[in-house]
Amino acid sequence: MRSRPLHQTIADHVARQISTGALRPGARVQSVRQLSARFAVSSNTVLHAFATLEALGLVEARPQSGYYVRARASDALPAPTVPQPRTPAVPKADRLPLFIQSMRDPSVVPLAAATMAPELLPAARLNQLLAQAARRSGARGLRLDPLPGYAPLRREIARRLARLGASVTAEDVVTTIGAIEAIHLALRSVTRPGDAVVVESPCYFGVLQLLGELGLRAIEVPADPALGPPVDRIEEAITRRQARACVLVPNFANPLGSLMPVAHKRALVELCTAHDTPIIESDVYGELPFEGERPAPLKAFDEAGIVLHCSSFSKSLAPSFRAGWICPGRFREAVEQRKFIYTVASPTVTQAAIAEFLVSGGYDRHLRAVRRRLRDQVMQTREAIAEHFPDGTRVSNPQGGFLLWVEMPHSAVDALDLQRRALREKISIVPGPMFSARNGFRHCFRLSCGHPWSDALESAIARLARLAAS
Ligand SMILES: Cc1ncc(COP(=O)(O)O)c(C=O)c1O
Repeated sequence: MRSRPLHQTIADHVARQISTGALRPGARVQSVRQLSARFAVSSNTVLHAFATLEALGLVEARPQSGYYVRARASDALPAPTVPQPRTPAVPKADRLPLFIQSMRDPSVVPLAAATMAPELLPAARLNQLLAQAARRSGARGLRLDPLPGYAPLRREIARRLARLGASVTAEDVVTTIGAIEAIHLALRSVTRPGDAVVVESPCYFGVLQLLGELGLRAIEVPADPALGPPVDRIEEAITRRQARACVLVPNFANPLGSLMPVAHKRALVELCTAHDTPIIESDVYGELPFEGERPAPLKAFDEAGIVLHCSSFSKSLAPSFRAGWICPGRFREAVEQRKFIYTVASPTVTQAAIAEFLVSGGYDRHLRAVRRRLRDQVMQTREAIAEHFPDGTRVSNPQGGFLLWVEMPHSAVDALDLQRRALREKISIVPGPMFSARNGFRHCFRLSCGHPWSDALESAIARLARLAAS
């Protein structure tokens, strides 16, 4: 295994102290001498680390004095506000065509789609594993892989979930075509048309569109930008408004990036168990914390089988493989039946390549490297917003994933208008109203930070700010 360059390890150490607040803006960083003694490296290696940190805008050198944490303009950005939603509504998918159009054109600056740039993904290794899987299985590879899906992959997924505290074995995992199929199967299995379903607000538009397709009403619970939806508000939706199920993203939600604290997760699962209300969780960003341990999914607190855990490799590894899964808890039979009715089975060769990547440790190595890149990209995008957007702009401050939610001052243009005008200038964003069943968030939009920072991205943010002001 190739180890990380030493200067990178030191730069990460200091970056972590800054991002966790252990080192505040203006604070002096340990000296070159102290760091070289601590990491047993030469002073040149430490200077290389400081150069990396300077390039990221994290520290600045002061002559004769050392390195200090830079006060970043983005530190002063306030968090977005989340207004109270109105009565539950069946969402519409009428904003989709422009989003799809923006994804199709390769010349568009890709700030809309929630996927990582291909250059951040281990393409060569995955292609090698795909070829190997196809070669090894020969004609057998063309045989339909029966439910619940490719066993070695289910074993690896179960092993990872068990490490996080979930009581899950390979038998509890059904592979799907992306997380969206998992959520679809879950909704079909636990609701009927006309039912009300709790979602966080703002809510990932794919979930809202599914609710609309299934004739379900969304009860939008306003989420705290850092902590997600409050459990007492979810309780109210269940007890007073007869919500039949919840669809939630507890780890680095889309679009806010909020992370539910462990105590909230535990309380939520207890609440839903007591009321017999299924929770459909999407954990597609759970593997992407910027620092520290990967947070536990709701499934880790589920003893009664009330959580239908849905996820995929789309955000963290290979968007095009469409490899997802569901751990349906006690709804397994209903979910398996529906999987058979809608798509019969999932493609085998892609599952086999991913299984091998997981077994070999390649996935964990990839995740370790990519988390740092995403942290830097999110930080650089926030910094550019602070620089180019006017005072009064609010921005989320996620601790994982790669999405940002921007709330513009009310003097700015409507986000739907901004989307259309930006697209004419070859820049894509996702406008706020797509994240609401009732066309709310008209001054908000979502940005994806899935691409390495570049002059083109910086100038796209500057142009967006000019368009928003005009
Ligand atoms: C929270 C959430 N869940 C599910 C999905 C869908 O994932 P997949 O592409 O694996 O279907 C997305 C995609 O953006 C998402 O943000």
